Amino acid sequence: CGIVGYVGPRQCVDLIVGGLRKLEYRGYDSAGVAVVGPNGLAVKRAKGKLQNLVALLADAPLAGTTGIGHTRWATHGKPSDENAHPHCYGGVAVVHNGIIENHLELKAALAARGHKFSSETDTEIFAHLIADALAAGARDLRAAVGQALAQVKGTYAIAVVSQQRPEEIVAAKNASPLVVGYGKGESFLASDVPAILEHTREVVYLEEGELAVLTPAGIALYGRDGEPLARKPRKIEWSAVAAEKDGHKHFMHKEIFEQPRAVADTIRGRASLEQGDVALDGMELPADYARSLERIVIVACGTSWHAGLSGRQMIESLARVPVEVELASEFRNRDPLVDERVLCLAISQSGETADTLAAVKIARARGARAYAICNVVGSAISRECDGGTLFTRAGPEIGVASTKAFTTQLAALFLMAVRLGRLRGTLSPERARELLEDLRRVPSWMEQMIRQEAQLMPIAKRCAAARDVLFLGRGSEYPVALEGALKLKEISYIHAEGYAAGEMKHGPIALIDEELPVVVLATREPAYEKTLGNMEEVRARGGQVFAVVTEGDTHAASLAEVAITVPPAPPVLVPLLSIIPLQFLAYHVADLKGTDVDQPRNLAKSVTVE
Ligand code: G6P
Repeated sequence: CGIVGYVGPRQCVDLIVGGLRKLEYRGYDSAGVAVVGPNGLAVKRAKGKLQNLVALLADAPLAGTTGIGHTRWATHGKPSDENAHPHCYGGVAVVHNGIIENHLELKAALAARGHKFSSETDTEIFAHLIADALAAGARDLRAAVGQALAQVKGTYAIAVVSQQRPEEIVAAKNASPLVVGYGKGESFLASDVPAILEHTREVVYLEEGELAVLTPAGIALYGRDGEPLARKPRKIEWSAVAAEKDGHKHFMHKEIFEQPRAVADTIRGRASLEQGDVALDGMELPADYARSLERIVIVACGTSWHAGLSGRQMIESLARVPVEVELASEFRNRDPLVDERVLCLAISQSGETADTLAAVKIARARGARAYAICNVVGSAISRECDGGTLFTRAGPEIGVASTKAFTTQLAALFLMAVRLGRLRGTLSPERARELLEDLRRVPSWMEQMIRQEAQLMPIAKRCAAARDVLFLGRGSEYPVALEGALKLKEISYIHAEGYAAGEMKHGPIALIDEELPVVVLATREPAYEKTLGNMEEVRARGGQVFAVVTEGDTHAASLAEVAITVPPAPPVLVPLLSIIPLQFLAYHVADLKGTDVDQPRNLAKSVTVE
C-alpha cells in the first residue's frame, strides 16, 4: 500500500494525489485522502483505481493545507469504499500499512466501551484508540499516538491527523517502510520516496519503533523510548523523471529497455579489470571469513528467488562453495539448519518482502551472518543484514512484473561470485579479468537483445491464443525458463510452466500437442545437445517450438519456428541476455490481450505481509 502526507502552506490535496499516483503500483484496490482545513477534518475515499478518487474530488473539492492519503491493497476486509483508508473516529484520521495482529481483541474491548465501527479493517482501531487517548487528556497528538501504539501488536507504518491539531501530522513505523521529507516551510511523508521526490530530496527513513511529528516548521523525530533523536537527512539522487514512463506505453516496457543502463550502473566502479577483482561496496567480506565458509544459503521470493537459482550456479562454479537456494516462505517456517559457518544471502528488489525479512532474522538468530542484494537503499532487509548490502542500481522499478531488478540482481550475484572466488583462491586474477571483461560487455549485448523485439511478435500472437505455454531450459537456462514462465503468467494470466528440460520426459511431455507453444532456451551450455533432443521430441509430437539460441547456431535455429539469438557470452552470463526475449514475450502477449500490464490483478509490487 502507499502512504503520502503533507503539511505546509500549500493546498495539499493535489499534491497528495500526485504522490499517490507514484505509489499506485504498491496497491490499488482503493484510495483516499483526509484533510484538516478551515472546516475541520474532511475525508474522501473511493474503491478502485485512483482515478475514481480523483473524480470524487473533482465533484467535491477538499480545502486544507494538512493532509494524508493512501492507496490500499487489501489485507483485512474486502476492497470497498468503507474499507478504504483513511479511517476516522472522533476527529482523528489514520492511514496505515501493515497488519495489527491483536485487532480482534482490541476491537472487542473498544466495542464493550460503546465504540461503533464503520469498517472491517484492523486500521480503524488506531483512530478509535487515538481519539480515546485524546479524550482522556493525552498531552498532545504524539502522546495519544504513543498510547495507542503501546496497545497494538503487529506491523505498521501510520500517519495520523487530528482536527484538534490543524498543522501537524504524527507518523510512526514498525516493520513497514516510512520516509519523511524536509522542505522550506513544509514537511512531507511517504511510504516510498518516489511519492515526494518531486518536492524534496532531503529525507530520513524512520527506523523500527520511531515516531515523527511533522509541522510546517520542521520534523521532530523520537526513538522507541520517546526520547528526541537527531538525525541528518540524506540526499536522494534518483530523479523524479526516472520514475516516469519516458514515452513507453507501460512502465514494464520502459524498464525492459532500461536494463543495459541498469546493469552498467550496477557494475560501475565495482569491477576492476586492472586488478582482476571486484570491490563489493557496502558488503563486508573479510578474507578469512570467506575462506572458512561452509555453505551459503540464499533466501528470496518470486523473481528474486529465480535470480538466486542463477546465483547458485555462478557462486558454485567460481567460488566453489556449496549454495542452497531457499524460498523465504518455506525457510522461515521450518527449523532450518543454519549456524555461524553459514552465510545467509537475501535477495530482494524492494528490501521489504515480509517472508525474506523473516528468513534473514531467523538465520541471524542462529548465528549466520546475513548479507543482502537489494534495490532500495534504506530498506528493511538491507538494514537487517549485519554483513551489509550490495545495492543493485536499477532505480525505482514500477511495473509489478520485475525485469531490470532481476538482471541487476544477476549482475550483482556475478560480482559477488567473482569476489568470493578471488578471496577463496578458486579464481585466478587472469580468469577473473576475463570474466569481468565479459561482464562489461553485457550492456551492449543486452542492446542487441532489445533490438530483436519485433521478431517476438509472431510468437506473442501464438502464445496469446494459447491456454498453456511451456518453457524449457537446462543448466544456466533452467532459472531463465522458470522466470520466463512466471513473467507470462503474472501479466497475461495464461497458465505457464517452467521446467528443467531434462525433466520433460517425467511429466510435461504428456501435455504436448498441436495447441501447446513450447519456448526452449537452447543456447550453448555444456549439456545443450540434450536440449536440442528435447526440441526434436516436441516437434515429433506436433508441438510448436520457439527458441532462444546462440548466434550462428543454425542447427538449433532450424529446429524452431522462430529463433531469437544470443551473443556468445559465457553460459553463467547468458541468463542476463536470454531472459530479455522472454520479458518481451510476456509483455506483448499481455498487451495483445489488453491486460493491465503494470498492475496485474491480485499482485503487488512489494509483499509486506506473510
Ligand atoms: C512480489 C513481486 C515480484 C517479486 C517478489 C519478491 O511478488 O510482484 O516481482 O519478485 O514480490 O519481491 P522482492 O522485492 O523481495 O524482490
